[in-house]
Amino acid sequence: MSSDLHPDRAHDAHDETSNPAANPSFEQVLAQRLVSRRGFLKHSAATTAGLTAAGVFGGSLLDAVFNPALAAPAPVGGIGFTSVPANVVPMTDAVTVPAGYSARVLVAWGDRLTAGAQWNPADPMDEATQLQAYGAHTDGMNYFPFPGAGKGHLGNKRGLLVSNSEYVDPPLVNGITPASAYASAPLTLDMVRAQQAAHGVNVVKVRQIARTWRVHRTSRFNRRITGNTPCAVSGPAAGHALLRTGADPSGRRVLGTLNNCAHGQTPWGTYLACEENFNGYFGANGSYSRTAHEARYGLSAAGFNYRWHEVDERFDINQHRNEANRFGWVVEIDPYNPHSTPVKRTALGRFKHESAGVVVGPDNTVAVYMGDDERNEYVYKFVCARKYNPRNRAANRDLLDTGTLYVARFDADGSGTWLPLVWGQNGLTPENGFADQGEVLIKCRQAADRVGATMMDRPEWVAAHPTTREVYLTLTNNSRRGNTPASSNKVDGTTAAASANPPVDAANPRPDNDFGHIIRWRESAGDAAATVFAWDVFVLCGDKATTKTLGGSYTPDGHDGYKGNINGDDYGAPDGLWFDGDGRLWIQTDQAGDAKGDWVNIGGNVMMCADPSTGHTRRFLTSPRHCEVTGVTGTPDGRTLFVGIQHPGEDWSVSPTDNSTWPDSGVNGPTTASALGTVHKPRSGVVVITRDDGGVIGT
Ligand code: FEO
Ligand code: CA
Ligand code: CA
Repeated sequence: MSSDLHPDRAHDAHDETSNPAANPSFEQVLAQRLVSRRGFLKHSAATTAGLTAAGVFGGSLLDAVFNPALAAPAPVGGIGFTSVPANVVPMTDAVTVPAGYSARVLVAWGDRLTAGAQWNPADPMDEATQLQAYGAHTDGMNYFPFPGAGKGHLGNKRGLLVSNSEYVDPPLVNGITPASAYASAPLTLDMVRAQQAAHGVNVVKVRQIARTWRVHRTSRFNRRITGNTPCAVSGPAAGHALLRTGADPSGRRVLGTLNNCAHGQTPWGTYLACEENFNGYFGANGSYSRTAHEARYGLSAAGFNYRWHEVDERFDINQHRNEANRFGWVVEIDPYNPHSTPVKRTALGRFKHESAGVVVGPDNTVAVYMGDDERNEYVYKFVCARKYNPRNRAANRDLLDTGTLYVARFDADGSGTWLPLVWGQNGLTPENGFADQGEVLIKCRQAADRVGATMMDRPEWVAAHPTTREVYLTLTNNSRRGNTPASSNKVDGTTAAASANPPVDAANPRPDNDFGHIIRWRESAGDAAATVFAWDVFVLCGDKATTKTLGGSYTPDGHDGYKGNINGDDYGAPDGLWFDGDGRLWIQTDQAGDAKGDWVNIGGNVMMCADPSTGHTRRFLTSPRHCEVTGVTGTPDGRTLFVGIQHPGEDWSVSPTDNSTWPDSGVNGPTTASALGTVHKPRSGVVVITRDDGGVIGT
């Protein structure tokens, strides 16, 4: 059941396109890039001849091509810890951090955020309990320090931890065993309401007292935003005919936010929750014939088998054709005002938003970088029309409503172009199905198809360097890259989600990209509003010891044997990404988490720490069984890190504890349920990481 809910293991779409493109071979694009990039490659080896695939992947030459280190500076304070060992079979069911560090559970799914009795995880979750408690499946998060200018830098010890609760495991919420029984269990609206309440966003006041971080349960700031919390809609698509429903004829008021994966934060102190796989919650009672637009966004009669549409008619596509158009947005939340209404900012486009990385240029121009996480989808940038005002918070309130949305084209010569998604330009016209800017934004994927964006290997998080503003982006994997017969997302927007087989290109250079890679770019002249940029691949992830070979259906040109070019400890499926204030790059992974198959050497999921100037990478954290490591943020002084552990023990079948008993086993400190004697279910949660000597994390 749960594997259906997880995008990594979502089934391939049935629809295949047959549009073989005349793309150049891998050797050709690589050779092109070498020639054009000679001007700023650091390593002279890159200018040597012999550009065959074998030669390219021979070692130092490949490093030179992909790691020219575009002047990325070394982290202040360096990287000084000793790597932890990979968590291989038999796996440790714990969060493990280097010697001299501690990882302790701060909050987990179901922990009460207000006064009153704690939930006993032996019980099914219900809506009323869940509305007072931390949500399920914690994901992206940001720490908002309390004003820290006063004595003792209070912001390093008091703040609001704002986090996403991405999705739920329905049988875990409703207390159904075995997991497979959910598919045919009698379903009630109360059961679905409990699941919806476990989604959304958590605002939690946290504080450190006597060196221990705890949730401040009586804080007036604590808040749950759920799948049913009223949200406003703003920007060019607000009120659009495609956003209107019977329950909301205005098209400006949506109930709830769903599948909040990663996030962003603005310099004016708001949180951006990004709606990712919203399509999975919708289904159809009766026969359903999907439109090209619905296919492009992956809607289907069964969705991800949540079954909500059976008892909550809002999620029945047949009855409410426009409801799904009201999801897939970036939602801005003011955590400092517990009574504020979340706002869906339509100017940033509608797709499967992973994260929203906000960069403020030297002239206070605001850019928001965003990935659409599905195979063969795109990278976007929004540039605000007005500038950020550091002296007047209220003046920034609706900054994200007006500006220009762009989508990226990565060219083989190491340059890139931001292509505007502006109604009336580049074929975004009524004759091609775009009546106005609102429709361009609602059908953003189709608009990007039309203008010729580059299909990417599942864009996940973005992170900008704190001083250079260089932007890094994780591309987690793509089983369809290089598969045959080759095909592309059609220009008319009729390709079903994740159904094309794009050939390799310079920015996505490996067929069957199983281990993923990280790309980075710099805007021309450091201008956040620039429409051209320079890019390179920071790292190709992989397993230096793997024996895996490329399967028969892929075009093998230039494949590296899945070994990658990591300078240091191996990892794969990069997803979460964050720069700390000193310029250390923290990388979190999302693979099966069972240390089997492709992952026997790499082990379970991890958090790595990388030096962007050298690419040197060390394993900082390993995680419990069958979980994903996602969400990382810290205090301004760098001495506390918060890290999310999502879906420990996933893919259980008979008992919820088949695969993991984290965290109530108490292995990472006491929890609200660790004294009950028996662990009833694993729970997603956040750990606090500190150094035993109180020093800066990572040094
Ligand atoms: Fe929710 Fe793209 O990970
Ligand atoms: Ca993710
Ligand atoms: Ca992921």
